Amino acid sequence: MTNRKQKYNNPFTATYKGISDLFKKQERVGTLNPDNRLDGKKVLITGSSSGLGLATAKDLARLGAEVIMAVRSGIPEKGEEVKKASGSEKVHMLHVDLSDFDSIKSLIKEVKSQFEKVDILICNAAVVSKEARKTRHGVEEMFSVNYLAKFVFVNLMLKEDLFIKDGNDLPRIIFVSSESHRNPDEFEWDDFGKFKEYGMGKSVERYGYYKLLMTTFSQELSRRLNPNQKTEYSVFALCPGPVNSNIAREAPAIFQPLMKLVFRAFFRSPEQACEPVVYLAASKDVEGKATDYLFLMSRKPVDEKAVDPKNGGRLWKVTEELLKNYKIEI
Ligand SMILES: NC(=O)c1ccc[n+]([C@@H]2O[C@H](COP(=O)([O-])OP(=O)(O)OC[C@H]3O[C@@H](n4cnc5c(N)ncnc54)[C@H](OP(=O)(O)O)[C@@H]3O)[C@@H](O)[C@H]2O)c1
Repeated sequence: MTNRKQKYNNPFTATYKGISDLFKKQERVGTLNPDNRLDGKKVLITGSSSGLGLATAKDLARLGAEVIMAVRSGIPEKGEEVKKASGSEKVHMLHVDLSDFDSIKSLIKEVKSQFEKVDILICNAAVVSKEARKTRHGVEEMFSVNYLAKFVFVNLMLKEDLFIKDGNDLPRIIFVSSESHRNPDEFEWDDFGKFKEYGMGKSVERYGYYKLLMTTFSQELSRRLNPNQKTEYSVFALCPGPVNSNIAREAPAIFQPLMKLVFRAFFRSPEQACEPVVYLAASKDVEGKATDYLFLMSRKPVDEKAVDPKNGGRLWKVTEELLKNYKIEI
């Protein structure tokens, strides 16, 4: 990737950009009304053992949703924390390691057998790896968790008919993205899915690229699920802005004290930052929309590369081809 204007190309510029964006004037899309409840709705959220996902799970449970926390760690204590914070007992936990295709398939089976179907899916889990690592399938881990797992999980949910479509509210599929999806200049079509070495210096750049893939997927998914201008699924994405979470856990130990200080001073708490996620899950204002993207609480177009149907179609095709190597048919 050759880009002279990159702003998310290392942890320092990304932190600076995140903080400076917080001070820009935002036009709020709206606010959650007290009557925007989720009673009777089943919401599955990945990566809810920590940070933004955990705070979102608490808010969703407070709004009356039955919350299914799909997590790699924190069973059962994080679920107990959500129950305690929300006063709701309708909180469940399922294990998943999103870097493992077999684990994703097991999650699908568990969702089907324990909950039958869900109303809302929030794809929140992500990682910022300090270096390129191979999953047990030999795929680069950050690519796998931050993009490929979402493609596989969402498509298997659809294939197994795991969304409630009862003629009332539309199912909602929500992707937690990042403004860093605007960073890359172009798609790397020629070596799509090939394992590439990188170290800490490049990890934020790779993170932005995978967010571009995920955001492009979200746009293409919305087009495919809603042909002929008839909306059957809402596919939303958002960037929560800088969050004081555990996302930088792999940063070098020497920088950790400084980063913790900066994160605490300038980044938003997960409880504040989850507002756009909860809004997109529960607000009636967005009911019936095929797609939407929020940065903090303001509406924005996604990057033009992500919205281009040529890129969306091509991404879908190369991803399907890649997954054949792992015997996954979408
Ligand atoms: N923090 C920010 O400034 C910021 C800014 C923009 C966007 N975001 C996005 O916000 C979302 C939430 O991140 P966060 O900031 O809350 O970070 P976080 O505290 O590190 O939470 C990440 C979550 O993803 C889970 N996860 C990672 N790898 C996984 C795997 N292989 N299988 C299953 N779960 C896995 C983690 O599980 P464990 O607890 O088991 O590790 C954790 O629950 C991400 O999509 C991130 O890209 C964050």
